[in-house]
Amino acid sequence: MTPISRRRFLQGASALLLPLPEAALQAALEPDQAVPALPELPLDRSEPGLAEGRLVAEARPVRINSRTVEAWTYNGSYPGPLIRVREGETLRLSLINRLPVATNLHFHGLWVSPSGRGDNVWLQVPPGESFTYEFAIPAGNAGLQWYHPHIHGASAEPLFRGLAGPLLVEGDEAFERELVCDDRVLVLKDLTVEGRRIPRVRPTEVSAGREGQWLLVNGMEQPVLQANRTLLRARFLNASNSRYWKLRLSNEAPMTVVAFDGRTLESPRELQELQLVPGARAEALIVLDNPAPVDLWYHPVPRREMQFTGSRPLLRILPPPVPTPVSIPGRLARVPRFGAAPPDTERDIVLGLFNLCGRFLDPARVDIRTRVGAREIWNVRNADYMDHAFHLHTWHYEILELDGRAPAHVERRDMHNVRIGETMRIGIHFTGYSGRTLYHCHFAEHADAGMMAVLQVDP
Ligand code: C2O
Ligand code: CU
Repeated sequence: MTPISRRRFLQGASALLLPLPEAALQAALEPDQAVPALPELPLDRSEPGLAEGRLVAEARPVRINSRTVEAWTYNGSYPGPLIRVREGETLRLSLINRLPVATNLHFHGLWVSPSGRGDNVWLQVPPGESFTYEFAIPAGNAGLQWYHPHIHGASAEPLFRGLAGPLLVEGDEAFERELVCDDRVLVLKDLTVEGRRIPRVRPTEVSAGREGQWLLVNGMEQPVLQANRTLLRARFLNASNSRYWKLRLSNEAPMTVVAFDGRTLESPRELQELQLVPGARAEALIVLDNPAPVDLWYHPVPRREMQFTGSRPLLRILPPPVPTPVSIPGRLARVPRFGAAPPDTERDIVLGLFNLCGRFLDPARVDIRTRVGAREIWNVRNADYMDHAFHLHTWHYEILELDGRAPAHVERRDMHNVRIGETMRIGIHFTGYSGRTLYHCHFAEHADAGMMAVLQVDP
């Protein structure tokens, strides 16, 4: 983006509700400013039920934010290509490692096997080698998930350099057919670039969690989205290392959320703002029934002392040239509930800086052992001086209470913020799969430093 068009964007943004003059609208449509559509990963479906593709991880120069940057990419794309599969399919995905370091894949948000060729974070692919993942994606996975490397102690740098991509699972809930909308996947990622290079993390950035200077939407700062329908379905993924993104619309209209963390809600929820912790997803319907452009704004979240990054416009949304009908279904999906029956086990998990329950990750140690079918309650208490973002692999959890108060809606998440001093009480039903997996803080720097622990689920 040139400095001149940047200035134009910001002027428009400060005008908020005022319609832009025709000339400014034209300027906003300069092709170099259009929000990039992520390339879709080609999948071979010649064998019924199987979707087969390949991801090449490599360091190479790519265009990011209209600059040439030495990034780490999947198939030459920053962020990585969109993997689009359907519930009921088996994904066979070859990972070819052309990086100078070992890598692997975690399929964040997928309820699939954590063992064998599944979402197995224990295996590592050395430089120059490849590995083929293959796992069934059953019903219950529909929504926006994502993939990124998961090497213990060494995930933050590759993630910051660009190794992350969205994975969209299509389902067949009736509302999906009723919803006539412009459907977009928008990956939020921050980045710092010096010259052509992405600098290494500075030691002082580790404890707070690293944040980049550019706030990118699909790899571009302040792009423009020309909607082709009056109803926009914006599927947001926060693929940043540690930045929290709070999103609001400039016209102060609510957004209608239909899914959090890749799981459809029972019914739509109108929210004035969305807060996405690292790793989180939210799918929001935005109604563009006014001819004026709407800006999506970023606002900082004070998640620790003395932190400040200014608010800024992230994305300009232009309504469609010709309005289309808007209809938002009242019911979306049937959502499994944890329920009130007494759990099999209740546990306390204490979040400290770089540790869980006072211990750093030891991949050889099992921190929690349970069995398939168990229903457990975990009290996740933040004893640290900053917020942390709690993630569990394979199983979504239901938030039962935050500091003793039950949420107003069913909250099924695989990511949630735990504020300083807060206790998040969650219910987990370990259905479907056995194996060894992980739970951790999703600040990539914290996870690398040891804020991660091992969960073993016995058959
Ligand atoms: Cu997206 Cu273990 O994480
Ligand atoms: Cu943390």
